[in-house]
Amino acid sequence: MKIAFGCDHGGYELKLALMEHVKSRGIEVLDMGCNGERVDYPVYGKKTAEAVAEGQADLGIVCCGTGIGISIAANKVKGIRCAVVTTPYMAEMTKAHNNANMLAFGGRVLTAEQAIEFTDIWLDTEYLGDYHALRVAMLDEM
Ligand code: RB5
Repeated sequence: MKIAFGCDHGGYELKLALMEHVKSRGIEVLDMGCNGERVDYPVYGKKTAEAVAEGQADLGIVCCGTGIGISIAANKVKGIRCAVVTTPYMAEMTKAHNNANMLAFGGRVLTAEQAIEFTDIWLDTEYLGDYHALRVAMLDEM
């Protein structure tokens, strides 16, 4: 399992903490940048999403100040279902129902501990499939 990571300057510290955490779970990481410098979040949302869509990574996590801008960019890439998550319930449901293949977090919104907790929930929850698969297929058609 490999997870692609991307961020802007608002999400850089959070990205580092999340990469360390997933590595400690035995998961490989693919760091798409940035390295803490001021950058434009659409560039890194797109780059990271393309890495997932093209199969260079199985999943992706992107971080900006709020998680919103970079999630909007990621969701422009076909095949990407990127969810901004701010609660444990959202982390669980976006895997169980949406089969989200990317998460987005806000470095100015969440603590590293919260984002790590939500990431673990997402990774450990099973996608339910069944009738949810029809809705996910509708998303992927768009
Ligand atoms: C950058 O200052 C900030 O706009 C960005 O990190 C993000 O919050 C956008 O959604």
